[in-house]
Amino acid sequence: MENEKNSRGQWGSNFGFLMAAIGSAVGLGNIWGFPYKMGASGGFAFLIVYIGLVAFAGIAIMLGELALGRKTGYGVIGTYKLLSKKFAWVGWLGFLSGFLILAFYSVLGGYTLRYAIGFLMEIFSAGAGFGGLGSGAFFGAFTTNGASQIIYHLLFMGITVAIVMGGISSGIERFTKIAMPVLFGMLLIVIIRSVTLEGAMTGVSFMFAPNFAAFSEIGFMKVLKTAAGQMFFSLSLGMGCMITYGSYLSKSENLEKNAVIIPIADSIFALCAGLAVMPAVGAFMSQGVEGISFGAGPGLLFVTLHQVFSAGMGGLIGDLFGFLFYFLVFIAAVTSAISLLEVCTAYFVDKDVQKGTSGNRKKHTMIVGAIIFLVGIPVCLDGLGAGRAGGAMIDIPATMFGMSEVRMAFDCWLDFYDMIAEGVFMPLGAILMSVMIGWVLKTDVIKEEIEVGGLKMKSFRFWEICFKYIVPIVITFVLFGQLDDFFGLGIF
Ligand code: PFF
Repeated sequence: MENEKNSRGQWGSNFGFLMAAIGSAVGLGNIWGFPYKMGASGGFAFLIVYIGLVAFAGIAIMLGELALGRKTGYGVIGTYKLLSKKFAWVGWLGFLSGFLILAFYSVLGGYTLRYAIGFLMEIFSAGAGFGGLGSGAFFGAFTTNGASQIIYHLLFMGITVAIVMGGISSGIERFTKIAMPVLFGMLLIVIIRSVTLEGAMTGVSFMFAPNFAAFSEIGFMKVLKTAAGQMFFSLSLGMGCMITYGSYLSKSENLEKNAVIIPIADSIFALCAGLAVMPAVGAFMSQGVEGISFGAGPGLLFVTLHQVFSAGMGGLIGDLFGFLFYFLVFIAAVTSAISLLEVCTAYFVDKDVQKGTSGNRKKHTMIVGAIIFLVGIPVCLDGLGAGRAGGAMIDIPATMFGMSEVRMAFDCWLDFYDMIAEGVFMPLGAILMSVMIGWVLKTDVIKEEIEVGGLKMKSFRFWEICFKYIVPIVITFVLFGQLDDFFGLGIF
């Protein structure tokens, strides 16, 4: 039985809520994206920009989203509908972002499961987990094997659906309350191993050495847009996830405190993930192990790190740490995926509740999960673009729109979904939210909600300046930055 006050559900405790929200924030974005982006974009200099963005934009948006959700008591679509007729459609941007991101996130989550199982099997019998193939060869073979990816995508989605079906306190909260502390413990073990390897300092300095020259070499604007995009994705902002999680919070909880704790915890996790990954890469790179370098970019998680554990550490220790690491990434991905699915499920549960019925969460979760699984299948079938003969998947002659410089092409389905969701819908949804709250409905809406339980909103003036002025500027950067990346507009 849910210990819930109404048929939508409610968090059993503030700690449970925090674990779920931090679980949503900590995911592939932290462990995969953050270390290599930080290393490639100025190290410590990037970190300062990132922290500045979190302090002046991330926390403000987080507080706005949590307060909006708790005020209306609905998910992202219900919230916008209730607040403004004019902005009602913005909720759909959030819903569709969650839907599309989960479609490819689940495929990648399936990869982490495959790698965790692979290393587990290697512990018992050498060659059983990865067929005796090298890191690059195995990744190539796996990503071009559609059936195998679909099975792991199905498993990952099945686990996600099973948790969300359980409801807010008995499903999501119960899982994340255990998973998050375990995750942190596992991360600490990997960090200790990683930083004590011979040559580890090469990796530490790759990540942390202040390189202000990056600002002029890469361009300050480029660094800013990379950090801003990373912050949005990593904090699960701009698509109604925190609106949805906020809607299950009790009126007596302190939103201001929560809105600070979640971003701080997420940033600590990101730094810890960097300390788990980069020193190991640096160590084996400096020891001359083949195929290991900092320059791997997105290939870091599955190719470089696989090589770190299999060829670098090697033997039983390598297999054990490989399993521990990929299992940890898998757990982090699950706790994020459940929040993405909840964004979509909440819409249907809310509709039932509005009709006066108790809300058939189990049925809705299964149907939505099944549809997202189907939408993710094309991502499994195109070898991430590598297996395609004859160029890009979608190639629209940009001259059609009179923009001869622009290349409107996507190499694979993952890029295509990512462009629509992360590139357009998420930043657009966030800009509209800040305009709606900051300029149309007025910021008192948030203040009143924060103070509803009798607490005084201490940071109102500061928050208002961040939300009305800094946030729209930062999001505009994200929006143009993403479009620049996808279409090569050459803005930055
Ligand atoms: N924050 C997650 C990560 O860093 O991997 C991804 C994510 C989850 C984005 C939930 C958006 C969201 F609503």
